[in-house]
Amino acid sequence: MTHVPTITLNNGVEIPQLGFGVFQVVPAETRAATLEALEVGYRHIDTAEMYGNEAGVGEAVRDSGIPRDEIFITSKLNNGFHARADALAAFEGTMSALGVDELDLFLIHWPLPAVGDFVETWKAMEEILATGRVRAIGVSNFQAHHLQRLFDETGTVPAVNQIEVHPYLTQDALRAFNHEHGIATEGWSPIAQGTVLHEGILGEIGERVGKTPAQVVLRWHLQRGDIVFPKSVTRSRIEENLDLFDFELTGEDVAAITALNKDERTGPNPDEFNYIP
Ligand SMILES: NC(=O)c1ccc[n+]([C@@H]2O[C@H](COP(=O)([O-])OP(=O)(O)OC[C@H]3O[C@@H](n4cnc5c(N)ncnc54)[C@H](OP(=O)(O)O)[C@@H]3O)[C@@H](O)[C@H]2O)c1
Repeated sequence: MTHVPTITLNNGVEIPQLGFGVFQVVPAETRAATLEALEVGYRHIDTAEMYGNEAGVGEAVRDSGIPRDEIFITSKLNNGFHARADALAAFEGTMSALGVDELDLFLIHWPLPAVGDFVETWKAMEEILATGRVRAIGVSNFQAHHLQRLFDETGTVPAVNQIEVHPYLTQDALRAFNHEHGIATEGWSPIAQGTVLHEGILGEIGERVGKTPAQVVLRWHLQRGDIVFPKSVTRSRIEENLDLFDFELTGEDVAAITALNKDERTGPNPDEFNYIP
């Protein structure tokens, strides 16, 4: 069994640094894909109400036979539910879709700065934390100025900020801000949905260390200290993406990959994104 290191969050909860993401896994295939990931050795699953596939994740966790407390499950509050009462109800919906008594991590999916007040939403997240039914709460797609409002106006520092990070969007300023405030950075779309993999430097490093470009990029994230959960519905890639712990990149390799940065997003800019499904 692959040993995946853990990161200790700011409330003492431990999270596996590598997990399995299920964005764009269609609901009918989610149980099978998640079960494969669990069989291969992943013990951390990242889902969201927005993905419509929490039920498949829950089924896979139950059907795997792996004790519930050995699997770390994250889900996220969808965009239509930022008002306090809606957030509390949406959390109940997530728990019943997953079919779990306790969730490991619950995140505000997007700040939606023009829609409402995410500070109210964060206070609802604090209420949910106080029930003891979620082990940690955090945010996703928050910029530094959004986080600053939470620090100024509420009592809990998010355990996690899940943001887009990959070699074309290295996010060094926001990652440093998270770190300075004790917030763990999770990097979404860690291989930029495959678009970075043709970069020559990744092939060169991969040839030297005997790994694929995807493995080189995922290792780069891990050595930078971020938490990642690549998505794949392909068995060989699910295996490949976990096979990251028998090689190391040099400091020069890490710097060369970081130098690919062009501040280019694959997803929306959180300051401008106010979409409600
Ligand atoms: N918080 C947010 O707003 C947010 C936004 C986006 C994503 N996320 C989270 O982050 C997770 C990962 O991001 P993502 O799904 O957008 O993108 P990703 O993990 O960067 O890339 C997934 C894509 O790359 C392909 N792929 C996977 N492993 C590969 C490999 N070893 N070699 C070549 N291609 C490979 C997959 O194809 P196949 O599946 O066909 O194999 C899929 O098309 C999501 O699943 C979700 O949990 C969060």
